[in-house]
Amino acid sequence: MPGPDDAIVLEHVCKAFGAHKVLDDVSLTVKKGTITVLLGPSGTGKSVLLRILVGLLRPDSGRVFVGEHDIAALDERRSRDRKRLFEVRRRFGMLFQDGALFDDMNVGDNVAFPMRMHTKMREEEIRAKVADKLARVGLPRVEHKFPSELSGGMRKRVAFARAIALEPEIVLCDEPSSGLDPVMSATLDELIMEMHRTLGISFIVISHDTAEARTIADIIGMLAGGKLVAYGPKAELERNAHPALRQFFDRATEGPIQVV
Ligand SMILES: Nc1ncnc2c1ncn2[C@@H]1O[C@H](COP(=O)(O)OP(=O)(O)OP(=O)(O)O)[C@@H](O)[C@H]1O
Ligand SMILES: [Mg+2]
Repeated sequence: MPGPDDAIVLEHVCKAFGAHKVLDDVSLTVKKGTITVLLGPSGTGKSVLLRILVGLLRPDSGRVFVGEHDIAALDERRSRDRKRLFEVRRRFGMLFQDGALFDDMNVGDNVAFPMRMHTKMREEEIRAKVADKLARVGLPRVEHKFPSELSGGMRKRVAFARAIALEPEIVLCDEPSSGLDPVMSATLDELIMEMHRTLGISFIVISHDTAEARTIADIIGMLAGGKLVAYGPKAELERNAHPALRQFFDRATEGPIQVV
């Protein structure tokens, strides 16, 4: 069960697709007000875990507490549960791995989308908030542009502005720096740290990048082979001798993580 300082508590979460066991008894607690980075090799279930956290996927077993609600017990097909899931999702901002902007909507409408979906704010207020969020990500006055007119880094920042549109308690970022040059990925990292500092947002960031983890994380977790093999404060993880973690930090081809 979650304590008052816990943002998210996972207990014994399992998820398989057919015979393929992706998450195998994963338990973890994310404290409020932290930046948690989850590392792990490709295909290890990081994105699946993130989808479970926001109730977009249900685990086969285990419990997923967001606040006091076990969202794993909610079934979207039941209207009462659907309402509760909706409330839970509203507390999260989500930066998907591919940005996932709506290509047929301009930037302003993309950022406004969660506000129109989840609130009854007036258009005027929405427009002011959209402008504020875009300015925060360093893209003022691009509301009228379409995603296809933007660079990959700009699209990521628009997606970031959309993720913070409802001023959420927790933002989940799925590989925010993938596909970006080092300067742009450092910019994204700085944005995360700034939003954490100024808006008090907790972040769960999925990454392949140990340099990124070292820069932004308070807490680091490592998923490998369906298990959470290491989890704790950054300084502790630097000393952790788990071979999968060492292989990752040392960028070694030899070790338990096999390339398939
Ligand atoms: N809806 C689905 N149906 C079937 N298999 C799925 C589904 N979603 C994910 N998987 C499988 O689950 C495994 C984990 O996928 P996931 O996307 O979570 O990996 P990941 O750790 O995010 O990898 P990457 O770092 O490359 O993004 C993969 O083998 C994938 O094929
Ligand atoms: Mg992924």
